[in-house]
Amino acid sequence: MKLLHVDSSILGGNSVSRELSAAVVARFQSLHGDLEVIRRDLIETPVAHLTGAYLAGQSADVQHDQAMQEELTLGGAVLAEFMAADIIVVGSPLYNLTIPSQLKAWMDRIVVAGKTFRYTPNGPEGLVHGKRLVLVLSRGGFYGPTSPRHSFEHGESYLKSMFTFIGLSHPDVIVAEGLAVNAEQRQKALEEARAQIGTLSDAIAA
Ligand SMILES: Cc1cc2nc3c(=O)[nH]c(=O)nc-3n(C[C@H](O)[C@H](O)[C@H](O)COP(=O)(O)O)c2cc1C
Repeated sequence: MKLLHVDSSILGGNSVSRELSAAVVARFQSLHGDLEVIRRDLIETPVAHLTGAYLAGQSADVQHDQAMQEELTLGGAVLAEFMAADIIVVGSPLYNLTIPSQLKAWMDRIVVAGKTFRYTPNGPEGLVHGKRLVLVLSRGGFYGPTSPRHSFEHGESYLKSMFTFIGLSHPDVIVAEGLAVNAEQRQKALEEARAQIGTLSDAIAA
């Protein structure tokens, strides 16, 4: 069984989403003795933004230079490891009301027409099924359903929409929020998130 562990916080050892996503991975390791963990740290090894040349380069008719060949190999590897994973854990902080641009660049490599979704006469159809998805989200303020800033939140809402688009519509969502409000709230948010992680089941397709 394979677990893909994705992180996108720029704060390294001080990152809440990194600490919590690692706790989610540890939880699944305790539940599945045979788990192989594949790491995709988008800050240590960034995935480049899409370019027109990259899209054109996917055609077999196009000649590639070495740099483009390396780009195509990386893009293929990112998609292949996503498709091969049974469990996907994505750590995402909220930066300026949305996900880090490094994570968006990764999303652009896994949302691929003909591979992870297709267009049909009835609209787009997701092609990714039978995987467990866990979103681990951290944010300085409050954006929950009762918050006056709820409509400003474009990180959790984007990730849920995009993963639903490709077929993964029932993620587990771990949220630690209000982290910048004060030390007490930060501690409370961390404790609640850790407690939630401790209840994650061993199911694969949630
Ligand atoms: C560049 C940057 C932008 C941020 N923008 C927001 C924001 O729009 N809303 C918010 O609630 N918190 C914001 N924060 C606070 C982070 O969401 C918070 O510190 C969170 O813990 C970051 O996750 P991390 O600890 O995993 O890096 C921002 C932090 C940084 C560094």
